[in-house]
Amino acid sequence: MARPWPRQPRLIAGNWKMNKTAQEGSALAGQLKGLLGTTRRCEIALCPPYPALESVAAAVRGSGIHLGAQDLHPEPKGAFTGAVSGPMLSAVGCRFVIVGHSERRHGMGEDDALVARKARAALRDGLTPIVCVGETLSEREAGGTADVLVRQVRAVYEGLGEAEARATVVAYEPVWAIGTGKVASLEQAREAHQLVRATLDRVVAPGLGQSLAVLYGGSVNAENAAALFGEAELDGALVGGASLEAAGFWRICAAATPR
Ligand code: 13P
Repeated sequence: MARPWPRQPRLIAGNWKMNKTAQEGSALAGQLKGLLGTTRRCEIALCPPYPALESVAAAVRGSGIHLGAQDLHPEPKGAFTGAVSGPMLSAVGCRFVIVGHSERRHGMGEDDALVARKARAALRDGLTPIVCVGETLSEREAGGTADVLVRQVRAVYEGLGEAEARATVVAYEPVWAIGTGKVASLEQAREAHQLVRATLDRVVAPGLGQSLAVLYGGSVNAENAAALFGEAELDGALVGGASLEAAGFWRICAAATPR
């Protein structure tokens, strides 16, 4: 089973999405490794596309930078053309795997039940799932944000033991903030994170919410990171576009100072 992931130091995870070849990924990871100072201020994870996992793993070896994947199939092996399993990700050196990203929920038809199966598969295979939750703009405008977040958290965590739940990370990613340049306000992010924690307390075990890392994702960049990390509720960030360039991503990492 995956090990628990603590709230501190903060975790900055770069979700490269469908960007970077194996060679480009290796170059970017190598640049980031070169920027690492001697003092570790935050934990860093890189989530390249599957074909770049191996070259990125080699580029960051010995640096303390973690490797993550962007998705997995719930089954460990079998006749699932095009899919990649948890044991394959562990074998290439992944510590993390993103599950339930909105681009898969809304762009590729993944429902809550499938996301729950993927989170369980990750735990089974020794990976730390980064469980993404978040409302669309129309859900927010209709006053449905809380319902959506509670539903998405329940779907994954109901039935999980406390030790399993402690081996996960949550990412609050409002869909309207992803790739749009619109960042959630500190108040919106704080409210959502607190609701996620309260739901975890109710669904799994009292006190769990306070011990789980909850990341924020959605248009985080080098310019807004310092202000975002002024908010104690943010245990890190899941960064898309701004993780594709070393200097900018590094500035985000540098802004994630310990609390
Ligand atoms: P952007 O940082 O490009 O908005 O993407 C966020 C995201 O989806 C990370 O998973």
